[in-house]
Amino acid sequence: MAETGARPRVFATRPLPGDGLARLAAAAELEVWPGPGAPPREALLAAAARAEGLLCLLTDRVDAALLGAAPRLRAVSSVSVGLDHVDLAAATARGIPVGFTPGVLTDTTAELTIALLLAAARRVVEADRFVREGRWREWAPDLLLGRDLGGATLGVIGLGAIGRAVVVRARALGMTVLGWSRGQTEVPGVEAVPLDALLARSAFVTLHVALTPETRGLIGERELALLPRGAVLVNTARGGIVDEDALARALASGQLAGAALDVFAREPLPPTSPLLFAPNLVLAPHIGSATLRTRARMAELAVANLLAALAGERMPHCANPAVYGPDAARR
Ligand code: DGY
Repeated sequence: MAETGARPRVFATRPLPGDGLARLAAAAELEVWPGPGAPPREALLAAAARAEGLLCLLTDRVDAALLGAAPRLRAVSSVSVGLDHVDLAAATARGIPVGFTPGVLTDTTAELTIALLLAAARRVVEADRFVREGRWREWAPDLLLGRDLGGATLGVIGLGAIGRAVVVRARALGMTVLGWSRGQTEVPGVEAVPLDALLARSAFVTLHVALTPETRGLIGERELALLPRGAVLVNTARGGIVDEDALARALASGQLAGAALDVFAREPLPPTSPLLFAPNLVLAPHIGSATLRTRARMAELAVANLLAALAGERMPHCANPAVYGPDAARR
């Protein structure tokens, strides 16, 4: 498997749920960063410099500098579907396949999206706080009035696997669904519309595009102003898609009635973020895929990607198939 026939050296940047790492340890000289937390940059660079395989997370920046400092590295496998933390072009230039974990987290992330939509629409977090703080004196007809999802219009921005899984659930709740994607994907039950039209017509909007140079800041001041007054925004994709300062202002002015965010431009959210002071905002610490079953499946898939590459085989899920040759993407 390794260049020399010896077991390949692999660095995993965190212990993971499930049996994936045990399977990896059976086939490789595995070093696991013990934590707490992610390895600091210097430790990551030092470990990558020794490794043939790197099993990383979305918290580990795998950029050109890291790849340049890792002469033995033959495979990178991320325990994530998003890859904005990996410099794919630099990895491809080095001929290093990069694995990712599509599919296994689709339903779990769609479920959290619906949970956040409901939480924002029905003011669930606010209601919990209201009861705990002893402010509940009596039942009242106008107490904590929210908004119905049934009959409302949901705009889904990004119609990949997770966006489509959200569509199915939203339609089951009786929502009318508008959709926009860069590839103009046709999805049954979804009216495909231009982005500005989607924003102008949607009482609820949910984001499901990858973070790329094209989608960074996709939802800014102008886009938030296009929404009907009192709309609700949900983001379980990546924080950088939304201008957070503009979002905080839109919440403060009432242009948005609410929002729910699982992802942020900087994670963890800095204590100075204006979002922490914005009204009607539900916050979650990037838990879209956080169920035991899904995290174990992600680890399993990431390990399968890594082991395949270290054995000289094609990764089951490779984000840069160009490394397998000019015709690889078409195969
Ligand atoms: C991903 O995989 O990209 C999610 O953001 C975390 O599971």
